[in-house]
Amino acid sequence: MTILEWLHSQANIFNEKIGTNDFRLLVCHLFKKNTAWLFANSNQTLDQAQLNQLNQWADEIKAGKPLAYITREKAFWTLKLKVNEHTLIPRPETELIIETVQQSVNLPKKILDLGTGSGAIALALATLFPKAKITASDISKDALSVARENAKINHIYHVDFIQSDWFTNIDDKDFDLIVSNPPYIAADDEHLANLK
Ligand SMILES: C[S@@+](CC[C@H](N)C(=O)[O-])C[C@H]1O[C@@H](n2cnc3c(N)ncnc32)[C@H](O)[C@@H]1O
Repeated sequence: MTILEWLHSQANIFNEKIGTNDFRLLVCHLFKKNTAWLFANSNQTLDQAQLNQLNQWADEIKAGKPLAYITREKAFWTLKLKVNEHTLIPRPETELIIETVQQSVNLPKKILDLGTGSGAIALALATLFPKAKITASDISKDALSVARENAKINHIYHVDFIQSDWFTNIDDKDFDLIVSNPPYIAADDEHLANLK
């Protein structure tokens, strides 16, 4: 089976709800190539191992697993961020926080991001304010190690990461700007099951 035939095999009505783009991106992820390569090479034949891998990922997507948890990365602002099961996948609408800061805050010197997760907000602000002292905190040690790695991947060296239950371990209480995208759905919320 060729790549194109496999993509067509996934394009039934149910999968259209997910969008064919996810399946294209799975192929790109498998071959570690971009979409331009995909369009130029869609007649390439898949071997059995490649086919098995794509089918397994496609089943996971159909069962509701977000694409980013398979590719383990997500674009946010101008950054490419690593994500895993310890971090929320940064959402496109969270970029509104960055745009709002950009439009309404004049050169903050000290910035705090509470509940940083993958580091998305703190690192995006770090690109806007290269001279600011930025602190990013989260209660989750595992999320913080992803955030630290994301800082390195994106060559950002002026963000300090602190494990803290909100303000508990943050001794400095004097910031020009505090940003946060806190948890907004309770773990036992009855609607969660429908929000895959
Ligand atoms: C909705 S996620 C947002 C992640 C990231 N800021 C983003 O926008 O993609 C909320 C984050 O808050 C963190 N968090 C939850 N409870 C916390 C607490 N008590 N203190 C600090 N961080 C907390 C979670 O670990 C999670 O990373």
